[in-house]
Order: sequence, then C-alpha cells, then structure tokens
Amino acid sequence: MKCLITGGAGFIGSHLAQELIATGNFVTVFDNMSTGSRENLRDIIDNPLFELIEGDLLDTPMLEQAIAGCDEIYHLAAMVGVKLILERPLDAMRTNMEGTAAMLGIAAARGRPVLIASSSEVYGHATREPLAEDDPRQYGSTATFRWAYAGAKAMGESLALAYHRRERLPAVVARLFNVAGPRQSAHGGMVIPSFVEQALRGTPITVYGTGRQTRCFSHVLDVARAMIRLLRSPEAHGEIFNIGGHGTITMAQLAVRVRKLAGSSSPITFVPYRDAYPDGFEEIMGRVPDLRRIERAIGYRPELGLETIIRQVIEHARAGTPTMA
Ligand SMILES: NC(=O)c1ccc[n+]([C@@H]2O[C@H](COP(=O)([O-])OP(=O)(O)OC[C@H]3O[C@@H](n4cnc5c(N)ncnc54)[C@H](O)[C@@H]3O)[C@@H](O)[C@H]2O)c1
Repeated sequence: MKCLITGGAGFIGSHLAQELIATGNFVTVFDNMSTGSRENLRDIIDNPLFELIEGDLLDTPMLEQAIAGCDEIYHLAAMVGVKLILERPLDAMRTNMEGTAAMLGIAAARGRPVLIASSSEVYGHATREPLAEDDPRQYGSTATFRWAYAGAKAMGESLALAYHRRERLPAVVARLFNVAGPRQSAHGGMVIPSFVEQALRGTPITVYGTGRQTRCFSHVLDVARAMIRLLRSPEAHGEIFNIGGHGTITMAQLAVRVRKLAGSSSPITFVPYRDAYPDGFEEIMGRVPDLRRIERAIGYRPELGLETIIRQVIEHARAGTPTMA
C-alpha cells in the first residue's frame, strides 16, 4: 500500500509512519513542519519506503498531488493542544476546518479511503462515564476559544460522514483520548511530557487547578495500530470509533507517579488556571472512553499501560531528544 499521512512528522503521525513501514507499506508524509520535525522521523527518513513532502494543507495543488499518488490517507495534520488553540485561534481554525475540508474534497473526488483523527474534545463537557460514540456533546460559548478545537474536529467528523453517505467515500473517524508516549512535545500543554521534563530538571512539577481532574491515557503505538486496522476494515467505514486506554488517574497522582519513576525530588506545586492559560479556558474534569464499539469491530484492546508510557517518555527525554518546543 502507498499510504499518505498528513501531519506525519508530528507525534502520533511519526509512530504511525514507522508502524506502516515496519509492516511493508510505502509512506508519504505531508507536513508543514509547524510542530512536526525531522527529528521525529529520524528512524525512517532514509528508508527507501519513506518520502517526506513539506507542504501545507491549505496549499491545495500540493495536497492534490500528494493524494493522487496514494492508496489510502491518514489525516492527522492539525493544530493540536488547548494552549496552542488559545494562543492562535485563527490559524488553528483555518488548519483544522479548511484544511480538513480541502483534504476530504480531494479524497472524495479520487475515491481514496480516509481515516480522520478526531478527538475526545468533541464530547466537550459531557459528563457521562464512559463516553460512547453516539452520546450527545455539550459545549460552552463559541466566544470561548477552547471550544474552537472541539467544534472544528466535530465538523471534520460530520463532513467525513457526509462524504461517506453522499459520495461513498470510504471514510472512518477515530476519536482519540489522551494519546501519550515518546516524542510527544510539551508545546501544546501536554501533561506527561511537561511533568517528565520538570521532574528530570528538578524544577517544580506544576499541576494546574486542584489536581483532582482525571485523564485516561493511551499508548501511541496501540493507537497507531488501531488506526491502520480501522481504515483497512471496510465494515468500519462510515462509523466513528473511540480509541483510548483503560484506567483513570488524577493529575495530582500522575505528578507523584512521574516523580517516582523519574527518581526526582522535584516539589509538586498547584497553579491556578488563570496563571497558566490565557482567558477563555474551561477545564474538563475527566473523560473515560467506552471502547466496546472498537473492540467489536477490530478486537481492539489497549496493550501498553500508563507505567510503560511514563517509563518510555522518561527514557526518551533522558536520551537527550527535546520534548519541549
Ligand atoms: N495527542 C493527543 O492526545 C491527541 C488526542 C486527540 C486527537 N489528536 C489528533 O491526532 C492528530 C495528531 O496529533 P499529534 O498529537 O500527533 O500532534 P502534533 O502537533 O505532534 O502533530 C500534528 C502535525 O500536523 C502538522 N501540521 C499542522 N498544521 C499543518 C498544516 N496546515 N499543513 C500540514 N501539516 C500541518 C504539524 O507540523 C504536526 O507535524 C491531530 O489531528 C490531533 O487533533 C491527538
């Protein structure tokens, strides 16, 4: 297979590229290198099965050319992370909405199967536990930019499903829940690389708010493998799937766990949200994925747990590869 990964120089995309190459596929990464990097692609950049196109989703002729040469598309390019979205809302919305719309239009015209990487953010404030794919969403005001990311991802999902229904585009939506692992950058406010960075430096580990908010992490390799299987399962097309891990942890507990595994003596401090984020921040106290649909469809079960994630992120940071942008 010739696989195109938009955003393939980023955290998840680079692991996906590596997994596809390891299983004998040809991979083209299409990325504007805004948060992605060649460093992320270090292990595959010289592989004859690999090609890098430096291009922007909003450059339609370039995108069209990249899509023309592939058999299937993994659409991961996006501006990601609450912090980045609050700081650059216009760029984020243009990339996440217009870029996704352009990509889907071209894929539909050429009949290329597409997987869209969406996010558990689309559930917004919904409090049901666990969250199933067809549960209702609940957002704050459109004037609160935190919701711009969720809104753009939700529109991408609806557009992909509409192309599937109206034009038979083989499209599948993957709603990712807190993916973590080596190479994740702290630039967008991602919690595990941030805590690890602080623990290894011996500076305070900063927990936002009360630290009682919970998260449920999934290992990037489990996620990459699930995405490949979903896109290659025709019965999954036209559907939305949660992809996540098992087991929740509070952010205060996470800080303690990271500090212990890093062998650090950093103090743990609590920082009010108003000091950590620009105006327009609303916290989510927790989201747990219902994984029954994806288990039924492809037999998905997360294999790599939180301990493995933290250990690998520490090892990666110790190896000297920067996780901070
Ligand atoms: N990391 C998570 O926990 C998580 C959770 C839910 C959903 N997702 C989704 O997974 C996907 C990948 O996220 P990630 O964590 O790897 O983030 P990332 O920032 O590491 O990767 C995004 C990539 O997209 C590229 N990109 C951004 N704008 C672009 C543009 N206009 N044109 C071309 N390339 C562009 C960046 O350079 C980067 O390489 C995103 O769609 C994100 O919304 C991630």
